[in-house]
Amino acid sequence: MKTNRIIQGDALQELQKLPDSVAQAIIADPPYFNVLENEAWDTQWKTAADYLAWCEAWVAESMRVLRDDGLCFIFGQLGKREHAFLHLMSRLSQQHQFHDLIIWDRAVGYDERRDSFTPQYEMILVLRKGNGAKFNKDAVRIPYDAATIELYLKDNRYKDKDARRKHLEAGKFATNILRVPSLKGASREKCGHPSQKPLDLIDKLILCSTDAGDLVIDPFLGSGSTAVSAKRLKRKWLGIEKDSNYLKIAKNRLKTVKYL
Ligand SMILES: C[S@@+](CC[C@H](N)C(=O)[O-])C[C@H]1O[C@@H](n2cnc3c(N)ncnc32)[C@H](O)[C@@H]1O
Repeated sequence: MKTNRIIQGDALQELQKLPDSVAQAIIADPPYFNVLENEAWDTQWKTAADYLAWCEAWVAESMRVLRDDGLCFIFGQLGKREHAFLHLMSRLSQQHQFHDLIIWDRAVGYDERRDSFTPQYEMILVLRKGNGAKFNKDAVRIPYDAATIELYLKDNRYKDKDARRKHLEAGKFATNILRVPSLKGASREKCGHPSQKPLDLIDKLILCSTDAGDLVIDPFLGSGSTAVSAKRLKRKWLGIEKDSNYLKIAKNRLKTVKYL
C-alpha cells in the first residue's frame, strides 16, 4: 500500500478501500456536528441521528484498518447547541473497546459564553482493537525544570542522590489531561484552517502510540497537522481530506517539515 500521500475524497469511501490491520494509530478529527456553524463541512447532516450513523460507519472502517495492537484517537467537541459527541462516545464504547478519554486542555478559553463557564477543553476518545495495545509511556514524559529538580533533591527520604537525580531527569509521566495551548490567530503555525490542531498535541498522540516506521492514518486531514507531525517523527502516514483548498494547504506545509 502506498503511504506518505494525501487522498482527496470521502473518508468513509476511501477507508473502505484500505487493507485490514495496517495502521498502528488512527488520528481522527472529524466534523463535530453543528459546532462550527459557519463551516459547511460541520453542518452537512440534517439530524444528529444521521451524524451518529455516519460516525459509526467510518469508525468501524477505521477499526478494521487498525492493527490489533493499535489505538484509534477520535477528537470531539461540545458546542453551545449540540452535544452529539456525548452520545457518540457512549455508542462507540459499546461497539468497540474503550481505552481512555483524554482531555485536551487548550490552556485558554474560547467562544465566550454568558450562560455558563467558558469552554477550554476538547475531548479525545481512545479506542483499542484488542488487549495489549502498544503504548510508549516513556516517550511522552514531561520534564521537570532545573529548579524543581534541585528542590526535590533536597528531600532527605531519598538516600541515593544519583539514582534520585536520574529518576527526576527522566521527567514525570503525563496524565490524560494534555495541556497544550491552542493556536492563536497570530501563531506562526496557523495556516488558515478553522480547527487546526497544534503539532505539539498531535506529536504526543503519535509518540505514545507508535514507533518510527509505523503507519499513522488520518481520515480528516484538514490542514495536514497529522501528516506533518508523523513526517517529522519519521512515521509513515496517510491522510484523507475532501476539501481541495485544505489539501493544498496540507501539501504546502509538508514541503517544509523539519525532522525532530
Ligand atoms: C475538524 S477538521 C480537521 C482539522 C485537522 N485536524 C487540522 O489540524 O487541520 C475536519 C476536516 O474534515 C473534512 N471533512 C469533512 N467531511 C469529510 C468527509 N466526508 N471525508 C473527508 N474529509 C471530510 C473537512 O474538510 C475538515 O477539513
